[in-house]
Amino acid sequence: AAAAPNLALIKYWGKRDSRLVLPLNNSISVTLDDQLMRTVTMATASPEFAEDFVELNGKPVEVTDRMRAVLQSLRQRCQRGQDLASWKVRVATRNSFPTAAGLASSSSGLCAFAVAVARLYGIVGDGGSDSCDADTLRWLSTVARLGSGSACRSLFAGFAEWSAGQRPDGVDSTASQLASAGHWDLRVLVCVVGAGAKSAPSTQAMARTVATSSLLPARLSCLPDRLAAVREAVAGRDFASLAEMSMRDSNCLHAVCADTYPPVHYLTDASRAIIDFVHRLNEASGRVVLGYTADAGPNVCLLAQPADVHLAAGCLQRAFDIGQVVGDLGEAADNSKVPSDWAGDGSGGEGATARHRIESLLICRLGRGRSIFHRRRRPLGLILTD
Ligand code: DP6
Repeated sequence: AAAAPNLALIKYWGKRDSRLVLPLNNSISVTLDDQLMRTVTMATASPEFAEDFVELNGKPVEVTDRMRAVLQSLRQRCQRGQDLASWKVRVATRNSFPTAAGLASSSSGLCAFAVAVARLYGIVGDGGSDSCDADTLRWLSTVARLGSGSACRSLFAGFAEWSAGQRPDGVDSTASQLASAGHWDLRVLVCVVGAGAKSAPSTQAMARTVATSSLLPARLSCLPDRLAAVREAVAGRDFASLAEMSMRDSNCLHAVCADTYPPVHYLTDASRAIIDFVHRLNEASGRVVLGYTADAGPNVCLLAQPADVHLAAGCLQRAFDIGQVVGDLGEAADNSKVPSDWAGDGSGGEGATARHRIESLLICRLGRGRSIFHRRRRPLGLILTD
């Protein structure tokens, strides 16, 4: 199975139940195209395996309680007999992210994990979006959620919304598709600035926010309006509104992180320089050319319409020291609305001279969500899904 990371435009931050991974708020995301970034996972089962075993990029990793919870839920629904369900599994996962991108994502990882094992157990069929019925997909989303909250959205192509739900058992805390990737051809420019830096893990950081931040209730109370505005922007393909809501929510998330005690810092000077650059470019252009959003790390993702990708990348190249550009830049379009003397200085402050570095600029389309390749049987009763 394969899955791509998703990027939250309205972020999930804070849980009402940590064990069941139930969030305090709804979130909305776009699933990225898996051409540039994806997780590919293969699951096998055998009576000869002594333990459940998981490896990532060729190295064994701890089978976490979260992974065990995913496996347990899937075993209960195994369609291929209780023998298979009782066998131990081996799950091999590979992330194909550009080298040193620092973008390894729990959303694609745990989504691909759940889908690969669901395929092994016959819960979903071969193929892409038609590999299972809508009810099964909703249920599978709750299972992926047990692995990592954001993973429940990566099952879906295009735009997805994860409903927080209200039930204590979490059966209504599931994601669904808001709109397909084809509904609106948006681009995401991932500015990788912090490949090496290790950020505070989101699970622990958001628990600390819930325990200590006095701003979190204010964030939660303004989210219903913001979510409604994003749904409307997606339905009406209103880029200016979508970009503004995404920027405001990203800023709000990082403000709440700063209000956490001790504080959680994800953005670096380079991240803030990119954010300021976007506002300057939009102002100089007299319209919203770009939006931005940043998750639990220093990388900043820019939202753009296809006709603006070339212009945005060109302006970024003038303002930042960019290591590599990966992906489709698109055609040069009319950029006469950006004043020719616009310097777009990426130093992040008046009079500053340092040019911040963007290691990689990855230009992504919106993608198809999870996919299942094919199944083959091998001797010794091994069933492989990859
Ligand atoms: C900032 O899904 O990684 O990316 O559920 O504890 O595994 P756990 O957290 P995770 O958190 C993602 C946080 C975020 C926002 C988002 O993706 O909505």
